[in-house]
Parts: sequence; structure tokens; C-alpha cells
Amino acid sequence: MADLAAFIQGMPKAELHIHIEGSLEPEMMLALARRNGVTLRYASEAALRAAYRFGNLQDFLDLYYEGMSVLRQEQDFYDLAMAYLRRAAGQNVRHAEIFFDPQGHTSRGVAFKIVIDGLWRALEDAERQLGMTTGLILCFLRHLDEADADKTLDHALPWRDRLIGVGLDSSEKGNPPSRFQRVFARARELGLKAVAHAGEEGPPQYVREALDLLRVDRIDHGNRALEDDELTRRLVRERMPLTVCPLSNLRLCGVPSLDVHPLERMLQLGLRATVNSDDPAYFGGYVGENYLAVQQALGLDRAEIVTLARNGFEASFIDDALKRRYLAALDDYGRTAG
Ligand code: HPA
Ligand code: ZN
Repeated sequence: MADLAAFIQGMPKAELHIHIEGSLEPEMMLALARRNGVTLRYASEAALRAAYRFGNLQDFLDLYYEGMSVLRQEQDFYDLAMAYLRRAAGQNVRHAEIFFDPQGHTSRGVAFKIVIDGLWRALEDAERQLGMTTGLILCFLRHLDEADADKTLDHALPWRDRLIGVGLDSSEKGNPPSRFQRVFARARELGLKAVAHAGEEGPPQYVREALDLLRVDRIDHGNRALEDDELTRRLVRERMPLTVCPLSNLRLCGVPSLDVHPLERMLQLGLRATVNSDDPAYFGGYVGENYLAVQQALGLDRAEIVTLARNGFEASFIDDALKRRYLAALDDYGRTAG
């Protein structure tokens, strides 16, 4: 296939693992810092980009929380989400399920309402103007305690209908899913879906806890599950989706290079892997760049690319009728494109 890059660009895609605060590009970060009178340690785009060298997840998170401190007003959250949604639509992302980290904002005195109103207005405009579908997933920060997560879920109750699910993110090592069993049970009783970052840096046991104790519908990342054959067989058997983020894994040193990334092995094992961008402004690419990078590094063929995209729609939280529509559009594209 001569031009897999064009094929990937035009392919209808779903994105299921994107932290909206991780789509804050340096240019917007500096503009919002000026608009809101926030002082950053970095004075220019070049200085910021030069700081985007991470040895592990925590190195990144330190900068990620500092970066999001420029977000203060409803309009900031709107601008942030709209910029992501426009870029995603430009790469033919038809459906996006978007994480946000309310505790990263409420802890700085920004009210939950400001965050959710800004994001929600952008999602509504994107659905109308860009013809895509969207959903919001509230993530709990796992370096904080369960009482803080509980309080955050309380804050969200008036806007329950704006959420499709809850997630668990931030520093994984030493913060096992077991610490958040009760708040996840509460969220599930509210009818919310559940996802959790597990096996990004943490051991296979954390993936097991996410399944057994949090009863998740998807695992975010999940790479380290492959260290455990019995767990891997279970994930295959249960058709558990994994939201894999190749460029993130590379930039956070989860893999030394993309040609040894486990994505192809995941597909060969029959795991339901999907491709996502995680924090595109920090990791060097949006979902299209992630597809292209693994296609090139692993030599994926067109059928494998389409399988990854199909997994994305199948693993999404949209209703079955819409899912069938997206899958039919993808099949059509696979048959007729290029
Ligand atoms: N892992 C954990 N927490 C995060 C990430 C991630 O990749 N991005 C934003 N919060
Ligand atoms: Zn993530």
C-alpha cells in the first residue's frame, strides 16, 4: 500500500483515551497564562517544549499539573476542549471520549461548575459544528485519597447526565486500584461506566484489581498485563478493551523504541487493543500521528490498522445503533479507500 499515511488520515476513528488537560499546547498555555495573569516557570514555547523530556510518568505529571494551572475561567476550558475537538475532527475522529481531572482544578480554587460548563459547551458546539459525537469521563487522581475522590463525585452529582463514566489516573506506582473500590462502586450505582489506568507503570496485579475490585469496562494502557500469561488469557477471554497510547509509552520510557512496542503482539494474541493519544500536546502527536508511528515502526498492514479502528468503535460507550453506523462507515472506507 503506497500511502498508508493518507489511509490513516481519512479513516473514521474513535478516540477513547485523551486527557483534555494534556491537549494544552504550549502556545495556548502561554496565551492563557497572559490572559489570567499566571506566571509559569517557562517564558516561551521553545522553553516549554525543551522541558518535555520525561524519564517516567511522574516527571510528566509534575509539568502537566503546572501547565493546567493557567486554566481558570469557563472560557479557558471551552477554548481548550474546542481546540482538541477541531484537531481531532481534522483527523477524522468521529467519536471522542474525553477524560478530565476536576481535582487538578478544584484544588486550585476553580469550581467544578466552571470546569464542566466550559467543557460541556465545547462538546455541544463540536457535535453541532463538526458532526462528531463525544462523551466526558471524570477521572479521580489516585495520588489523593478516596475521601477526596468521593467529594469530587459529590461535586459532579448535579451534572451526572453530562458524564458517561469515571476513570482513575495520575501516579500509578504505590497507588493501587484497591484504594478506590468504594467510590467506583458508588459511581457504578449511578449508572456510570468505569475505566482505570492500570499496567502503565504499575504491575499486572493492578490490572487484576481494576477488573475485580473496580469492575472496569476498559483498561487504560494495560501494557504490563502482558507480563502475566494467565492475566493476558483472561483479558482475551473477557474481550476487555485496552486503550493503548504508543507515543505516550515512548515519551514516558515505557518502551525504549516504538519498534518493540507491544501493540502488534497484543493484536496477535487477540487482545482488543485500541490506539489513542493520551496527552497529545506533551507526547508529540494526536491520534493520527499515533496510528502512523506504530504503523511505520511495526510495519502494520491495512487490515491491522482497520482492526485497531474497529476495536475503538466497538469499545466505545455509545449505543448499539450508533456503533453499527460507525462500524459500517469504517467497513465502507476499508473497502473503497485508496
Ligand atoms: N497516566 C496517568 N495519569 C495521567 C496520564 C497518564 O498517561 N496523563 C494524564 N494523567
Ligand atoms: Zn492516560
